[in-house]
Amino acid sequence: MSKSEGVTALSIVLLLLWTCTALSVDSEPDPCSTTLTFTETDKDLVAFALNLEYLEAEFFLFGAFGYGLDRQAPVLTAGGPPPIGGQKAMLDPLINDLVAQMALQEVGHIRVIRQNLGPDAFPRPLLNISRAAWATIFDAAFNMPLIPSFDPYASSINYMLASYAVPYVGLTGYVGANPQLLGSGAKSLVAGLLGVESGQDALIRTWLYERKQMFVTPYGFTVADATNAISRLRNDLDHNGLVALAGAPVPYTVDDEGLVVPIQFGSEQQTTGNILSADVDSLSYPRTPEQILSIVYSSGNPNVSGGFYPLGAHGRIAERYHKYGRTA
Ligand SMILES: *[C@@H]1O[C@H](CO)[C@@H](O)[C@H](O)[C@H]1NC(C)=O
Ligand SMILES: *[C@@H]1O[C@H](CO)[C@@H](O)[C@H](O)[C@H]1NC(C)=O
Repeated sequence: MSKSEGVTALSIVLLLLWTCTALSVDSEPDPCSTTLTFTETDKDLVAFALNLEYLEAEFFLFGAFGYGLDRQAPVLTAGGPPPIGGQKAMLDPLINDLVAQMALQEVGHIRVIRQNLGPDAFPRPLLNISRAAWATIFDAAFNMPLIPSFDPYASSINYMLASYAVPYVGLTGYVGANPQLLGSGAKSLVAGLLGVESGQDALIRTWLYERKQMFVTPYGFTVADATNAISRLRNDLDHNGLVALAGAPVPYTVDDEGLVVPIQFGSEQQTTGNILSADVDSLSYPRTPEQILSIVYSSGNPNVSGGFYPLGAHGRIAERYHKYGRTA
């Protein structure tokens, strides 16, 4: 920095300080406030994400350790029912280590979201992370019953393929929520959550990408085929969700891409390898809460609970469509 640039920078800082002092009288919102703020809608959006963080935490905790939040951090369940069907996965040491770290990251996410929501934080929703729940999803992805039925807990490859389905949904939700956030506290929290969810998605995808041509035993499909099938299923489910809400046709758009894609979906339309799922400018795709519910309920309809959430999700946004605990 030259001397004159230094002087200019200093005067900008001084000007800002002066402006902040002058403005910090009752004016709302106060741009210089150091208090991180949340509006009511911010809280609703962050609370919606808490549902997903519970799913991620329980799936990863069980996979790595063989137990969930009830043992790891019971206070964070707030008395919500234990998940159905979680179990220790047969993982090689590297994957066990990575999954353990992701599991504990999710515990931190739940804690910080709950702290920020205060009395608006709800208990853990009922989650179905059983082999049967995953088998149903993989059958739907492949449009036929897999024989034997898919068991996410049986091997590192199976577990990572199931994990492929987890942080990415949260990631697209955070990207979708971001433009709607108003308060500095909510923006800061969501940026921090999004960063780590994206990192998790990248590590899962990278590990799978290294093995993209391997066959998933005992089936006839490869790792890449499986990621493409799951992504296609999620594209379909969230599109159906939009149609269900609009009650009318909605143009089909892709917001979920597997590891090997037609070249027009690759980065700058120049690669078929697709390490990250992103749009034509390599920006992450956004999803609305309605699209996310359509996916995680496996029903293609935010009004119809099921899938990982047999009783539905908690919070004002989810319960616009389906009251928690009411059968679908
Ligand atoms: C969990 O999911 C499986 C597969 O869809 C289903 O058969 C089972 O009834 C579900 N459990 C609960 C309690 O919803
Ligand atoms: C979904 O639920 C909302 C709110 O109860 C309702 O307005 C809408 O008609 C429902 N849509 C479908 C497709 O059932």
